[in-house]
Amino acid sequence: MKVKLFESQAKAKEVLNDNEPRLVRAEGKEICIVRKGERIFAFQDACAHMGENLHKGKTNYLNEIVCPLHTYRFNMKTGEEAEQRCKSLKVYDIITDSEGIHLEI
Ligand code: FES
Repeated sequence: MKVKLFESQAKAKEVLNDNEPRLVRAEGKEICIVRKGERIFAFQDACAHMGENLHKGKTNYLNEIVCPLHTYRFNMKTGEEAEQRCKSLKVYDIITDSEGIHLEI
């Protein structure tokens, strides 16, 4: 199922600061989205370690989200934790088409 996030890339840039994690709720799920340049990443907001909100974390230059509670680092594309200390995050596809930018749930 596609859920529209933005009308256009320009709108996404206007609303989402680069590298600033943001919480979105869609279809009863809490999802963290991060824009890095032209690219948008989407993954479950609850940390796979002990459930902290990842949108309160920070990103790094390796395209990882760093959990604010115990600093586990998750690859925002694959969801994998950098040192395999816990299971991976669920990641979501972002689809861009003529109607805008969508989250695939
Ligand atoms: S809850 Fe995220 S690293 Fe522990």
